[in-house]
Amino acid sequence: KHLALWGGRFKSGPSPQLARLSKSTQFDWRLAGDDIAGSRAHARALGRAGLLSADELERMEAALNELQRRVDSGQFAPVEDDEDEATALERGLLAIAGDELGGKLRAGRSRNDQIACLIRMWLRRHARVVAGLLLDVTDALIGQAVAAGDAVMPGRTHMQHAQPVLLAHQLMAHVWPLLRDIDRLSDWDKRMDESPYGSGALAGNTLGLDPQAVASELGFSRVAANSIDGTASRDLVAEFSFVAAMIGVDLSRLSEEIIIWNSQEFAFVRLDDAYSTGSSIMPQKKNPDIAELTRGKSGRLIGDMTGLMATLKGLPTAYARDLQEDKEAVFDQVDTLETLLPAFSGMVRTMTFDLDRLKAEAPTGFALATDIAEWLVKRGVPFRHAHELSGACVQLAEGRSVELWDLTDADFIEVFKDFLPPQVAPKVRTVLTVEGSVSARDGEGGTAPVRVCEQIAQAQRHAAQA
Ligand code: ARG
Repeated sequence: KHLALWGGRFKSGPSPQLARLSKSTQFDWRLAGDDIAGSRAHARALGRAGLLSADELERMEAALNELQRRVDSGQFAPVEDDEDEATALERGLLAIAGDELGGKLRAGRSRNDQIACLIRMWLRRHARVVAGLLLDVTDALIGQAVAAGDAVMPGRTHMQHAQPVLLAHQLMAHVWPLLRDIDRLSDWDKRMDESPYGSGALAGNTLGLDPQAVASELGFSRVAANSIDGTASRDLVAEFSFVAAMIGVDLSRLSEEIIIWNSQEFAFVRLDDAYSTGSSIMPQKKNPDIAELTRGKSGRLIGDMTGLMATLKGLPTAYARDLQEDKEAVFDQVDTLETLLPAFSGMVRTMTFDLDRLKAEAPTGFALATDIAEWLVKRGVPFRHAHELSGACVQLAEGRSVELWDLTDADFIEVFKDFLPPQVAPKVRTVLTVEGSVSARDGEGGTAPVRVCEQIAQAQRHAAQA
């Protein structure tokens, strides 16, 4: 006789085609430990409700411990006929506890509330792991920012030289989104902190079980307020999958930056040998594969989220088997992130910047033009005119293929003649240095060294509390 959990009203077992389609042990077996923990808590609830005697409860707990031991040692594993992890574990429990006692555990619960609870337990635990690995990345970035000190680099918009910035400022610009992702995970956990156990198939249970006690044993502070919602909603799984995708996107943008900086043309950064790869044909190659794989895998993380959202859309609200599809999406995201993040933080921690080159490039491309305009504003020139006068300086320099600081005193006197006396005009040169430019941007959040120092300290405090 087949061992399905629902044989009573059926004349035959499932066709091999159905069994193959229906089977999920190949991916849900990783929930076995959480399932057994849930079973222990459920057994105690049955005991408190008088549905297991003290002796039965004791034997049940011993059997569950033995089952856990067999699962851990690999002595017990799913077989071909097991539909899902719950089916397999029931078979395992019956083998240990016997049909009589083992058969009592399923009272008052359904695989619907069970599986909704297990995915929450599993995800909450792994979200903490992911957040910890992400903190290693922010820590590596902050370490690089501290090491960079006052070093400057070309700041870009539209990939064109815009204004000089501190290298530390640019690196920290990647830290904040990642810290927000970590915050997102802890915010999400507050909503996830609700146990569906006791919801039954959809309507609750008749057996006087205490779902709050089960919830507390499983690390939840609350019980789902609505048993249909408890079994059928996956918005919280989807929310996790968004955060996972967002982490991918945030890391992908940093990856793209590192790939560009690492090109021969830029040559801003060098990656450590241990965190780069070579080519099978071109002996000279040293490739930024970690950054490329991160950029590539961000597509996969987005795909997992998109697939899950598409599955959820249009489902009538109570359990439907479609919901089984939630797991592979987030398992894949967690596996991807748990593999990628340690490599990524290693790459970031060990990369080295060519500070001289960054410094030499920082002011080029007329990146100090805004400083000229703002210097004029401080001398009473309306910004509209100041912008034009600075633009005229750029045009002059560009025409001669020189940089702004190569213009002569006579040039500045001529360009500013309608607004400034000739003895003042050449003083504009004082802002035509990179150090002058970055130090002047000293409003909160700006790239002045003193502000960046504060920013780093702020991020370190934030990370310490995460
Ligand atoms: N394996 C299913 C899932 O992962 C749970 C089983 C519920 N099956 C059912 N026929 N009610 O969602």
